[in-house]
Amino acid sequence: MPTVAIIGAQWGDEGKGKITDYLAEDADAVVRFQGGNNAGHTIVVGDRVFKLHLLPSGILRKGILAIIGNGVVINMEEMLDEMKQVEDADIPIDGLRISDRAHIIMGYHKRLDGAEEIYRGKKSIGTTKKGIGPAYQDKIARNGFRICDILEPDTVSEKAKFNLPYKNDLLKMLNTEQCGCTLEAVEERFERWRKIFGKYICDTSVLINDEIDAGKKILFEGAQGVMLDIDHGTYPFVTSSSTIGGGLCSGSGIAPNRIDRTIGCLKAYTTRVGEGPFVTELKGEEEEELQKKGGEFGVTTGRGRRCGWLDLIVAEHSTRLCGFDSWAITKLDVLNDYKKVQVCIGYDVDGQILKHFPASLEKLEKAKPVYKEFDGWEGWDDSSKMADKGFDSLPENMKTYIRFIEEYTKIPADIISIGPKRSETIDRRRKWWN
Ligand code: GDP
Ligand code: IMO
Ligand code: MG
Repeated sequence: MPTVAIIGAQWGDEGKGKITDYLAEDADAVVRFQGGNNAGHTIVVGDRVFKLHLLPSGILRKGILAIIGNGVVINMEEMLDEMKQVEDADIPIDGLRISDRAHIIMGYHKRLDGAEEIYRGKKSIGTTKKGIGPAYQDKIARNGFRICDILEPDTVSEKAKFNLPYKNDLLKMLNTEQCGCTLEAVEERFERWRKIFGKYICDTSVLINDEIDAGKKILFEGAQGVMLDIDHGTYPFVTSSSTIGGGLCSGSGIAPNRIDRTIGCLKAYTTRVGEGPFVTELKGEEEEELQKKGGEFGVTTGRGRRCGWLDLIVAEHSTRLCGFDSWAITKLDVLNDYKKVQVCIGYDVDGQILKHFPASLEKLEKAKPVYKEFDGWEGWDDSSKMADKGFDSLPENMKTYIRFIEEYTKIPADIISIGPKRSETIDRRRKWWN
């Protein structure tokens, strides 16, 4: 079984980076296939903490191919900073490969992201302001700069001549500072990028498919989560890419029948950053307590993440869309100090109990969570020691909680994460690659 995908099952920040890094130990290649530097993946390696936004998390494993697929939107300067961060830690990045079809986030995309958010006023989405939405807008509108353009100066000039006045007009309309970028400046920048990134650029669809044909072990690392998917998430409070398993195929250039196993990454409770519906959200002190215990502050923007109980209506939605074969349940240790923990198993909308996540924002606004209460595993703080001893050594109440998730969703919890470190992982399957 040579291909394994990891997808966030909630609103992002489920711990995908940690799980990807964990599984990358035995992988030959790791692939990012959507999103951009709106993602923030924290990986703890010994005493070091890495915060990656664009580079695939597996890049921290020596000798691995780290592939950025065509579905990603790339801020070249930010990627350069990240490459330095990794190289400064004496980790080689010669395995990096960048798709020639990926799109580039331009300076004006960032400005437009900020300006559109202001223009939306009270209806703002709470984006990361990294220019993700406007970059994907340009891709769909067929105005984008692609990575392959870096190698073709004439294409760059032609596209810049069209885009610069157009984007300046848009910025003017949005009452915002114009991008102030000249044609010469764009040409110079692309020339610089050609020198730096040229050697990493290739047709990554051909590369990934060749690797699969050669029986290599390929890991696909999702960014964001199913509830932020442009089609299936809490629209319009979503990101601008396809975050579900289907997005993997278009975003990396492989056929659906080449994905062998999909792991849903599920945090033991729920968080979301930015605006939008969140049925199991806690309020006030209760929310602050969970936020503090889980260290729930955004890697990309530093914003406090909104926090609430686990929502299995969300888990059902993401399972149906992605066909998960396994769960990686993360951050169970964060619930250590609770006497009681709640799990949402229905939405009460005007007396009607919904079992599927609705599209309507009005319904979501009205929805009251129907909870099943569980006894907590209060006082258990032995996470780091327990990982070696396996699932059986976990507290009974935690096992009951996990078993309920498995029964409700009909998906085995093959990975249990009880701390940020590599060693704080219980792997109940172990054989991921056959
Ligand atoms: P991602 O975006 O899905 O990769 O997740 P983030 O990295 O944004 O957020 C997850 C945070 O939780 C990071 O700080 C991880 O180091 C941390 N983390 C991951 N798994 C666990 C776990 O099982 N327990 C605890 N306490 N922290 C974890
Ligand atoms: P990882 O990969 C959590 C959220 C933003 C905002 C919405 C749209 O770390 O899980 P965007 O800048 O994408 O247009 O913002 O999506 N968002 C994330 N929330 N984790 C992420 O990534 C996110 N990437 C985007 O907060 O609500
Ligand atoms: Mg994150």
